[in-house]
Amino acid sequence: MDFSLASVVPQRVGSPAEARAEVGERGAAILPGCRDQDAALAAGRAFLGGDLRRFGLQFEATKAKQEAEAAVVDDQPADERGRKRRFTATAERMTPHNDGFGFGDFGPDYLFLWCGRPDGYGEGASFLVDGLRLLEAMAEDPEYAPVARFAWHTEIDQSEPNFPLAAHAPIARWLPGSGRVQVRHHPFQAPVPGQAPQDEAAHAALIERWSRAVTMARDAGPMFQAAAGDLICVDNYRLTHGRDGYRDPARVMLSIWGWSAAAIAVPEGPLDIVRPVIPPAMAAGKAT
Ligand SMILES: [Fe+2]
Repeated sequence: MDFSLASVVPQRVGSPAEARAEVGERGAAILPGCRDQDAALAAGRAFLGGDLRRFGLQFEATKAKQEAEAAVVDDQPADERGRKRRFTATAERMTPHNDGFGFGDFGPDYLFLWCGRPDGYGEGASFLVDGLRLLEAMAEDPEYAPVARFAWHTEIDQSEPNFPLAAHAPIARWLPGSGRVQVRHHPFQAPVPGQAPQDEAAHAALIERWSRAVTMARDAGPMFQAAAGDLICVDNYRLTHGRDGYRDPARVMLSIWGWSAAAIAVPEGPLDIVRPVIPPAMAAGKAT
């Protein structure tokens, strides 16, 4: 099977409305020419328009900041299943992920990545994996069809270590009402705990195969370099994203999160991915 089918290189478009249409169709688009942070935020707001429910800058990704945050996360303990949180080192290629995955239903449905300054060595290229296209291709391949069936039909634990979420969900699901699809991948997906050991082992093996397929799509497909001023607009439900390793301390990328009227749930409080605190209402599966 050709895993590069699921790799998305976003097209450059001329307006937030065109970006919205392109993201609806292909999952991602680039709005060039956002010359500073305020212009990027304004473009993201215009993208969401009347659909905007929550919107804002989530974090600034620089080498120094990410290394400091990775050290904080390294000090956090493993959970009772031996799973441990870890941030990808800046020198490593990232695991494809939906941003805010640790917040479950409360994660943003749109992601905007603004390139303030690209890596001066030409490193740190971006990648996008279309989870829906990947699962469609897997369903057609006898070797991967069982993994695709599992992804659509079996609930798993989507939580991060020591950050439990109340609701389990399948890897992939169509969302009622909006026509949106959600296909998730991140490094901590695990079987629902407390099942019969043979079921837990079978589910763990299928999750591992799903993860390997997403990783192959990442590595088979072309990556792309964002230019200064590019705003990469992403359907954060359908696509996973990440970047290659980089070295330049002057590289700047901003992560901006947006929730539209089609978001499953919209949180009210701050969302901290370094020191996650899950409000009791979120753990119960309700917006605060
Ligand atoms: Fe991310």
